Amino acid sequence: MRGVFITFEGIEGAGKSTISEMASRYVASKGLRVVGTYEPGDTAAGREIRTILLDPAHEGMHPLTELLLYFADRAEHVHRLIRPALDRGEVVLCDRFTDSTVAYQGFGRGLDLKTLRDIDAVARDGVWPELTILLDIDARAGLKRNSRAGKRDRLEMEDTGFHERVREGFLSIARSEPERVKVVDASRPVDAVFAEVRELMDRVLPDGRA
Ligand SMILES: Nc1ncnc2c1ncn2[C@@H]1O[C@H](COP(=O)(O)OP(=O)(O)OP(=O)(O)O)[C@@H](O)[C@H]1O
Ligand SMILES: [Mg+2]
Repeated sequence: MRGVFITFEGIEGAGKSTISEMASRYVASKGLRVVGTYEPGDTAAGREIRTILLDPAHEGMHPLTELLLYFADRAEHVHRLIRPALDRGEVVLCDRFTDSTVAYQGFGRGLDLKTLRDIDAVARDGVWPELTILLDIDARAGLKRNSRAGKRDRLEMEDTGFHERVREGFLSIARSEPERVKVVDASRPVDAVFAEVRELMDRVLPDGRA
């Protein structure tokens, strides 16, 4: 795996899609080959899994079923898309990865963290980000951004307490892995957020290496 794997994490409305798209353009502007991708759902099988996961009709889905669907998506994503791109030496920017599973299914839903990390290790099969940008924002502020944008799916319908636990989960991961996970205050205007993200990326992108 010769490429660079960077993930973007945070609660709904934190700005992951916005910032990771800007990041893709930035990496491409440096003359590097970049793959912008996301979880769940950026493979053919993953798209069908995503439909099940986000469908409000499945509101009562068992948490373990939900967990295994996320892992099925990740296994497909890693093996079909992420690792092949890294093997080709490309920069892979991924909107959500393992930390989202730990934050949502572990901290949010209360599933056992060790079990979760064990299955995750099987699904991602050694692929691991060298940099994770945690876009941090207050849960209500993030949800407000999304409701303004007219987005509402099964996860956004969870109560604010759930999203607060998820945010705390992300921050707890960042505290335990400060080298990999960089917390960026995402409540600021997009340009200020991205300026900080760009500096963090420069440290791991080939041009930024001393
Ligand atoms: N820094 C910012 N300031 C103000 N608005 C923002 C900022 N970043 C993103 N937005 C807006 O907030 C909304 C949510 O942003 P975005 O879709 O990028 O979040 P997300 O983290 O990808 O959310 P989701 O988890 O639901 O996919 C969009 O309408 C976007 O234009
Ligand atoms: Mg998004």
